[in-house]
Amino acid sequence: MAVWYQAADFFLKRLDAEDAHGLAIRSLKSGLVPQDRRVDPPSLAVQAWGRTLPNPIGLAAGFDKNAEVPDALLGLGFGLVEIGSVTPRPQPGNPRPRLFRLPEDRGVINRMGFPGHGLEPALARLKARPRQGFVGVNVGANKDSTDRAADYVTCAAALAPYAGYLVCNVSSPNTPGLRNLQGRTQLGELLKRVQDAIAATPVPLLVKIAPDATDDDLDDIVAVCRELRMDGIIVGNTTLSRPASLRSGHRGETGGLSGTPLMLLSTEVLRKTAQRVERQFPLIGCGGVGSGADAYAKIRAGATLVQLYSMMVFEGPPLVRRIKDELAALLARDGFATVTDAIGTDIHTPLRS
Ligand SMILES: Cc1cc2nc3c(=O)[nH]c(=O)nc-3n(C[C@H](O)[C@H](O)[C@H](O)COP(=O)(O)O)c2cc1C
Repeated sequence: MAVWYQAADFFLKRLDAEDAHGLAIRSLKSGLVPQDRRVDPPSLAVQAWGRTLPNPIGLAAGFDKNAEVPDALLGLGFGLVEIGSVTPRPQPGNPRPRLFRLPEDRGVINRMGFPGHGLEPALARLKARPRQGFVGVNVGANKDSTDRAADYVTCAAALAPYAGYLVCNVSSPNTPGLRNLQGRTQLGELLKRVQDAIAATPVPLLVKIAPDATDDDLDDIVAVCRELRMDGIIVGNTTLSRPASLRSGHRGETGGLSGTPLMLLSTEVLRKTAQRVERQFPLIGCGGVGSGADAYAKIRAGATLVQLYSMMVFEGPPLVRRIKDELAALLARDGFATVTDAIGTDIHTPLRS
């Protein structure tokens, strides 16, 4: 761990998890966090949706919900950064505390419930930023919305011109009923409406699903996505499940679990998704990534790109460079010249815990 971050980390760990997150955003805004200007090794370059990204490691949605610091985050060395989830109207989310560290498990439980500034401030910030780097935009629905699909349409239509890619997040467990949108009919209708709304803007459209999806759910979700010629699936969000192995005091909190305890489950669901997608579009693997080996496992299970959030809580910005170095070493060890060569090589080989 870098010395500067060891010092910052000492204080951050003693703060409430959400206060620490607020401080991290303010530090990134003020330019206090050192940027990683190193050029990535050529083996990490990867193609997605007609673009070449310097590396496949992304920051998942939820860290920069309001598009306040996407460029500072890209500067940490991420190949892609996803902002959001953005909802049409501002909303407070659930009462605090709603974000819990599970240090003994290297996990996080959150029941944030999409707190955010709403569409207009996020739109203004995205409009004002330089059009460089790969910044995805994740959209959601307001808790009190009477037409949730309309919320996705509103946000997607407004934000599409400023997005490297767009994500319909139908898998947050903290907005009651939201996950019902993953059902075959509802999902098909929702995605079709969003596709129609952004038809004039050529931007890749993805859907983010829950790692709690059953095999039958995956059959339906992938069938809909293939039928509609979607551009990708993110597998996935936090889980409502609780592995029996959890030891931390907060393990009984309500909400979605993420971090290390999610790695195995989310990678298996990713693999099953990849089997059904048959390379018709790229997948983003997300859930529990905290090392180059984890990122490599996602890629071998079928992911073109990888995202993480929770392990940043424990390891901070130096994690990004470490993952990239470890991933490049693993690719070289196994004789893969590029990330692309390794995608899906374990599509039929389940991970062992
Ligand atoms: C505090 C917190 C807030 C999150 N907010 C969102 C969100 O607004 N939208 C979304 O699609 N995912 C959200 N997520 C889920 C993450 O993007 C990611 O899918 C999940 O945490 C699994 O990855 P990880 O194990 O690397 O954290 C959030 C996760 C956390 C921990």
